[in-house]
Amino acid sequence: MSDKYLDVVSGGWGKSLAKKLGLPQPVPLRRTDPAQVDQPLVPGPVLVLENATSQRAADDIAKTLLAWDLDVRRDTDLGKGRRWGAVVVVLTDLTTPAELHDPALAVGSVLRQMAPGARVITVSRHPEGAAEPAVVAARRAVDGFVRSLGKELRAGATANGIMLDDAASALAPSAQGALRFLLSARSAFVDGQLVHVTSGDGELPADWTRPLTGRVAVVTGAARGIGAAIVRTLARDGATVIGVDVPPAGEALSAVMNEVRGSALQLDVTVEDAADRILEHARTRYGRLDIVVHNAGILRDKLLANMTEDRWRDLMAVNLLAPLRMNETFARELGEGGRIISLASTSGIAGNRGQTNYASAKAGIIGMTAALAPVVAQRGGTANAVAPGFIETDMTAKIPPVPRQVARRANSLQQGGQPVDVAEAIAFLAAPQAGGINGETLRVCGQNLVGQ
Ligand code: NAI
Repeated sequence: MSDKYLDVVSGGWGKSLAKKLGLPQPVPLRRTDPAQVDQPLVPGPVLVLENATSQRAADDIAKTLLAWDLDVRRDTDLGKGRRWGAVVVVLTDLTTPAELHDPALAVGSVLRQMAPGARVITVSRHPEGAAEPAVVAARRAVDGFVRSLGKELRAGATANGIMLDDAASALAPSAQGALRFLLSARSAFVDGQLVHVTSGDGELPADWTRPLTGRVAVVTGAARGIGAAIVRTLARDGATVIGVDVPPAGEALSAVMNEVRGSALQLDVTVEDAADRILEHARTRYGRLDIVVHNAGILRDKLLANMTEDRWRDLMAVNLLAPLRMNETFARELGEGGRIISLASTSGIAGNRGQTNYASAKAGIIGMTAALAPVVAQRGGTANAVAPGFIETDMTAKIPPVPRQVARRANSLQQGGQPVDVAEAIAFLAAPQAGGINGETLRVCGQNLVGQ
């Protein structure tokens, strides 16, 4: 779906007029270009900052960034006319909030020199791992810092963080995986977010550009929108993909699956034996199934006072009860290191008028994911959710024009996301390096200004 306002204000007279009138000034985001294999990870040099107690972790991270062929600097003086591609702020060993002072102000001193689409990324520890009030306060302070900075950055730049559990080092596979994801164009619509690395599990991929090589994935609701983008992105990352959709969408489904040399399975996910049929299809054709993406979903919006039994029941059946039922089988049957990734929504976090049914189902997905995590972990697997905000698809094209414009602009990046933005987050969580992220919900919402 196109965003005409974004097209008009991203250059020329439209840009100057929007500036003069104080209107939102969204810019096209830095996204991956499938045609360009060697796209640089960041649009300029990377500054590594730290507080004094986190020096060792900062040295380790700087070495990793150098190994990724980045131009790494430890000094804020870049020279005239040059722009930073990213700032990585290492705060893993904070002992008191006072220690945030120097690195925070150092970040402030370089903000006017950030390249379009630049990144600020903090690396810190999860507050729950500490007991001492000063340490917990310091760790929690990082969260407030990142969320506010995300709202201050412009020109497609984002601020995110990585929060490590105490069991995970700054070089744990998922810490490296998250750092690379957040630096890259793959995280274009992820903003104001702290990615929680829950353990030191996971494996670095042999090839960062094709981390899913040898893995077999199924994506439900694959015929269009976000589902079709997930299929293409998982295939780009090396997976063999099976697409599932209802029989009336059969033709569109075949077209998507042919494009990636995957296979199509016409199936309504609400049927009792849906999981068995998917498993049988996967095992017969490919001998295994490693990744499940529960993407199929429907909207049946109505204010609760006008809600009908059908609207509530149909929505719950597709959006929550089907993934719940299928997971009883998948949690048992997926191969070692399996991945279950489910589509939630920011409506399930913040609530949304007219969506009591949808938000209940999507909040249920977040709960299901947290409960499933320890179960799948027993066989080296993970269960995570991705919560999109406003994404430009057929689903959101049905929203009337005025609320659609408002919903689009009400985030830090002042625009809707693209299906590929959600797909990139799912591909990241499906990859071997994300094995230490379990039970989490990752928002892909450009940092919605309301709710979260
Ligand atoms: P869409 O309506 O464009 O595509 C959904 C696909 O699911 C369709 O191909 C449809 O045929 C299929 N589907 C529906 N019921 C099915 C069933 N019973 N069995 C198998 N397939 C079925 O939706 P969109 O926008 O691509 O959304 C995908 C997911 O992302 C959904 O779970 C949705 O709730 C979620 N989401 C979307 C947001 C957005 O802004 N578009 C925001 C937040 C979450």
